[in-house]
Amino acid sequence: MYSPTKISFKQQLEIQMISHKILALHGRATTVMIEVTLGKMPVWRYFGATLKSAPGARQWAVTDVRAPLPASIDRLEGVPLFPGEANGQKFSPALSMHRGGLDWVHECILTQWDDSTEGTIRLVLSDALVGISVILVLSLAPESDVLRMRTQLKNHGNAPLELQSMAVATIGLPSAAREIGYFTGQWAQEFQWRRHAIAPTGWERVSRAGRTSHDAVPAWCMLTPETAQFVGQAWCAHLAWSGNHRVSVLPTDGGSFCLQAGEYLAPGEAFLAPGDSIETPELLISYSSNGLDGASVALHEHLQSAVLKWPGGRMRPRPVHLNTWEAVYFRHDLVELTDLAGKASSLGIERFVLDDGWFQGRNDDLAALGDWWPDPTKYPAGLAPLIDHVRGLGMEFGLWVEPEMVNPDSQLFRNHPDWALQISGREFVTGRNQLVLDVFRPEVADYLFSKLDVLLRDNAISYLKWDMNRDLAQAGGADGRASYRRQVHSLYALLDKIRAAHPTVEIESCAAGGARTDYGILRHTHRLWLSDNNDALSRLTIQSGAFRLFPPEIAGSHVGPAPAHTTGRSQSLEFRGAISLFGHFGIEADIRYLSDGDCQILAGWISLYKSLRDTLHHGRFHQGNSATGLTWWMAIDDHRAVLGVFRGTQPDSANEPELLLPPLTGDALWRVRMERCVGKIRAHASIDAPLFDAYREGGAIFSGHELAQLGLPLPTMNAESALIFVLDRLPGNALD
Ligand code: DGJ
Repeated sequence: MYSPTKISFKQQLEIQMISHKILALHGRATTVMIEVTLGKMPVWRYFGATLKSAPGARQWAVTDVRAPLPASIDRLEGVPLFPGEANGQKFSPALSMHRGGLDWVHECILTQWDDSTEGTIRLVLSDALVGISVILVLSLAPESDVLRMRTQLKNHGNAPLELQSMAVATIGLPSAAREIGYFTGQWAQEFQWRRHAIAPTGWERVSRAGRTSHDAVPAWCMLTPETAQFVGQAWCAHLAWSGNHRVSVLPTDGGSFCLQAGEYLAPGEAFLAPGDSIETPELLISYSSNGLDGASVALHEHLQSAVLKWPGGRMRPRPVHLNTWEAVYFRHDLVELTDLAGKASSLGIERFVLDDGWFQGRNDDLAALGDWWPDPTKYPAGLAPLIDHVRGLGMEFGLWVEPEMVNPDSQLFRNHPDWALQISGREFVTGRNQLVLDVFRPEVADYLFSKLDVLLRDNAISYLKWDMNRDLAQAGGADGRASYRRQVHSLYALLDKIRAAHPTVEIESCAAGGARTDYGILRHTHRLWLSDNNDALSRLTIQSGAFRLFPPEIAGSHVGPAPAHTTGRSQSLEFRGAISLFGHFGIEADIRYLSDGDCQILAGWISLYKSLRDTLHHGRFHQGNSATGLTWWMAIDDHRAVLGVFRGTQPDSANEPELLLPPLTGDALWRVRMERCVGKIRAHASIDAPLFDAYREGGAIFSGHELAQLGLPLPTMNAESALIFVLDRLPGNALD
């Protein structure tokens, strides 16, 4: 007969404590807890605000408080970090694999853990039956509190292993996280922020563009229904990867959702020979209890401290650009370009970027990609005369390239048709009349390196705008296998090789506007081109979206022509200047034909940008929206804040309520000056009232708490208007 041994409560606790252990990461304001038991799969216990002591969780394992689902599988594991195929969880395994159709059932169990390095947990899992091991590394970045996760899989078997999918991990989240925020978009309309409740069935997105993509930037925020910009909890994840990806938000049997993210693998593309390993890109997750704003601030800090690698180790002041694209397109005429450069320098521009159209036979987008040497008819003596002229005017010189691409109508393709990604026997699929080179092939990478190396060695070029104007399709390599993944790794390697050979050169990541904007590419580059849409009203939305993930100093923002070439709409030059002020400022228009008045206006914005860029680019960046539809962007450093308030369309109310600025909370006193007043400010709303006079003259004084809780009084702003304020922090505080 079964007779349970009686044990005391204390003994029971001891047994519990021996059989499982809670490993914790504590950051500035975040705690992550993982429950580990040797011989079992680690499970999530907690991911949220700082929780230094959790005696309950240490005593009771997940399995002590839950029952297996009735009419299901008699196994129970909570939310595993790396769910296998064998455990009967209803949500997807993190790894789907097989060896010739066998070995597809796997269940990795913990064989080792190591939390001896402060801030890092290393978990070693394995499944001896199918011969695989998995190493999961989790750490909380000390500067930003962002959770970093990376996973490595090794094939210990004697036969090759085919992966069908592999996520970095599955992330267990509290049941309060029931909404999702993410981006949609398309060319010229990137970074459109969406938010909605997650359906009970979950949510999934796959991006197969072969690049980060216009429509599905790999960033997803799990939110509670109460979460807003400055309040509530947010878990914002970003896959630092410039290729195909997949994210799933899956219901668990515990009434919550979990998030699973990683690369999307094409059939057969991840293939591990015996002894080989594969590593995932890094998954970053920023937890905030201060709403979406807190998550963005942490992600920006992470990017600034741990991702970007500036020449010389430090970001120089971001120079004002003149980009030639919307000024001359493919019409490169040395006399015109020389004039353009002269005009640019007279306005205070600091870097002249020669866009598409400079190389052998490039007169439109039909031909020449791949032939990376100056077109002799346009540049009979090479690029040197133009570069010398530009540099003589005190500006740096930058050059556009699109190295991964080839036009069928090019010398390169005629000589090496096999160098393009392709599937033998199938018709080529072009995009913008071009094909994609197989950069994984050493001879292709060598060719590209040698061409770029010559350009950079022979010319004083300090900047490359690196473009990529199409999605990948039928990306078959020389071996016929899918090449999406290795294409991205080969691109990263090529960029690194160029940077190692030319360490002072900065690189911009552009992909038909914003189709390659992620923290993966930003390990190798320094600026993002967010969109080909320079219409300032469109930019208000595009930049607001992009700023959720990227700080303004790396986000190129150009004053374009009016009407805008993408939308046909026009906004005032002042409004266009105000929008570009909050980015890496540039001009992309034929400034040779500006009136004297417009030149003065533009020069004014350039000089304002130069005077404020220290705060704009080193301060903490915040953004918000008022209940009346205003958008505001603000950068704050120790001494100063720069605030831009923008109205796109007509207001509904006659008078504007005070603008709440939650990041300014505190007893500090701020003197608020209005630097620029752009557009029509409604007369009866008293722009001439004494307070607004004070803004424009000596400044008006407010406390931080006052600006956060009572708000900044504003005049009523009409459509397409902007107010730029500078807030100087005064000595002492409101209570002195
Ligand atoms: C697409 C980019 O986004 C534009 O800025 C420009 O560089 C063109 N390509 C040139 O072809």
